[in-house]
Amino acid sequence: MKSYRIALIPGDGIGRDMTAAAWSVLQKAAKAHGFAFEATEFPWSCAFYKETGAMMPADGIETLRSFDAILLGAVGWPAEVPDSVSLHGLLLPIRKSFVQYANIRPHRLLAGVEGPLKATAFDILCIRENTEGEYSGAGGRIHQGTADEVAVETSIFTRKGVERILRFAFEQARSRRGKLASVTKSNAQKYSMVFWDDVTRQLSAEYPDVEVTSYHIDAMAARMVMAPETLDVVVASNLFGDILTDLGAAIQGGLGFAASANINPERNAPSMFEPVHGSAPDIAHLGIANPIATVWSGAMMLDHLGEKDAANAVMTAIEAVTANGIGTVPGRDRTDTITAALLAAL
Ligand code: IPM
Ligand code: MN
Repeated sequence: MKSYRIALIPGDGIGRDMTAAAWSVLQKAAKAHGFAFEATEFPWSCAFYKETGAMMPADGIETLRSFDAILLGAVGWPAEVPDSVSLHGLLLPIRKSFVQYANIRPHRLLAGVEGPLKATAFDILCIRENTEGEYSGAGGRIHQGTADEVAVETSIFTRKGVERILRFAFEQARSRRGKLASVTKSNAQKYSMVFWDDVTRQLSAEYPDVEVTSYHIDAMAARMVMAPETLDVVVASNLFGDILTDLGAAIQGGLGFAASANINPERNAPSMFEPVHGSAPDIAHLGIANPIATVWSGAMMLDHLGEKDAANAVMTAIEAVTANGIGTVPGRDRTDTITAALLAAL
């Protein structure tokens, strides 16, 4: 029997309950589809930091490297550890070390879920560059704490980085409805963003079957609200993609439905699957967080592993549950209730 080794990193806050819920659903899907999942759980988190002084051991990345995939709950507990420390100590090094340069985030309304918009029939796939750009971490502060303080944070856009994310997005568009929206701000940022537009135009010659349009980020924010049904695949830099995918989460009914995959398309290191919502300290101990975003991320993991039937079964189960009105309103149904309904639907 085929068996996959999965690294589970529940992390902080609601991440713990969400990974447990998703794992039970994924285990059941594996059994039904004739393969096995073997989980190794890592306690890496802000609590781990408080104990050891690091978010993960020094050889953490090397430990993860041999796994087939990583399922992560959430990282961050700002009351105890500054986000700038916890995220740069766990989530961001994983994305960068494993060259998970494509962050894929689907935005559509699940059956039975009401979004805030008049538009209901939209199906957007956001592709966010995940390893460089505005979140490269290049910069510094001098004269700290004085009136002469200076802070510099430089965006880094490389031809290799821009070309590979755009190519990935063109391929996704080709496999969907053939439309690609490339998002920049090249009217104001005249080097990096004009460069991104140039590469978009150059690559478009290789994809004559894909209709590509360049948008400015501000106009795209408006379009995602006013006319989301006109969009198919949307590709953007790290910062712009980060912001647009929270907007995407909002129009799909909330962060409880926002799934994501951090993909290494070359498959020379593991990819990581995580909900977009984060650790949600305000509701962490209430048992009311919605596991659907993590379960959906798990379905994306199944798809990435090549288990398409199991992935489809999990998505069908999710929509059977939401179509029944379970897990559709934030905070109304308990995590356990939603998880039990997912297991039953499966
Ligand atoms: C996300 C999150 C992270 C990001 C933060 C927590 C660093 O907001 O996955 O969207 O911006 O990458
Ligand atoms: Mn974000």
